[in-house]
Amino acid sequence: MDRYAVIGHPIAHSKSPQIHAAFARQTAQDLGYEAILAPLDGFVATVQAFRAAGGRGMNVTVPFKLEAFALADRHTPRARAAGAVNTLAFDADGILGDNTDGAGLVRDLTVNLDCPLQGRRVLLLGAGGAARGAILPILDERPTALVIANRTVARAEELARVFAAEAGDTQLSASSFAALAGQSFDVVINATAASLDDDVPPLPPGLYASGALAYDMMYGRGDTPFMTAARADGAARVADGLGMLVEQAAESFTLWRGVRPDSRAVLAELRRQIDAG
Ligand code: ATR
Repeated sequence: MDRYAVIGHPIAHSKSPQIHAAFARQTAQDLGYEAILAPLDGFVATVQAFRAAGGRGMNVTVPFKLEAFALADRHTPRARAAGAVNTLAFDADGILGDNTDGAGLVRDLTVNLDCPLQGRRVLLLGAGGAARGAILPILDERPTALVIANRTVARAEELARVFAAEAGDTQLSASSFAALAGQSFDVVINATAASLDDDVPPLPPGLYASGALAYDMMYGRGDTPFMTAARADGAARVADGLGMLVEQAAESFTLWRGVRPDSRAVLAELRRQIDAG
């Protein structure tokens, strides 16, 4: 049986083992998938031990995505753009590092939520690792505009500079939250860590265009604080990041196994479980 694992710190509450077990059942792939807690100073040693024991690949979560990037011998273009790795694949040539987070986000938006980004105005809130990983996959969908807004504007400006060469016809720019006043967007994505503090980015009112979608990368039971604030400010639709979680897993599974699982069925089941408490 081929072995895979998710590695992080903490890791006990990870849903990845459940998601990948469901994918394996669906596609009749003979594999095992476990959760591994690595010591904060022991990421590389833990990965090497898993690989030496016959492991084929790993998902990497907080706080090890940068160390995973450094550990990989080769990177996919989307991992290089993200500067972080959430998926490792082990083979005879060494360690391949990929990043499926942004692709998972875009697939959740465009397929599950039927919200195409092409020709739309997109606002990305945040300029940390989560935001950075989303930029190239969003640009690949060819939105009319992508504005990166962040509390610390310099970080948003830096990302706009880094990705300028990839923007194509998309107007790519950086902004403070306050300077967004008077603009409107079709899709607003919260990639800040504000929700971890039960906080929301201080946005000016009136940002949501008619029919707009507000998307929070966080998820939980019921609306997140960002979703509540977006509804109150006129967002026609809101969504949390559970679909992104399942879709990034599906992208990893596809990379490892060469078969795409039915992510929608797994997402529906996870949603039922979360709603049931
Ligand atoms: P991650 O890898 O999860 O993106 P990060 O790199 O620490 O984490 O980035 C956190 C992001 O959330 C940053 O954009 C941060 O804004 P700053 O760059 O100004 O620090 C943003 N953030 C965190 N708490 C926030 C809050 N209460 N309101 C608005 N933005 C917040």
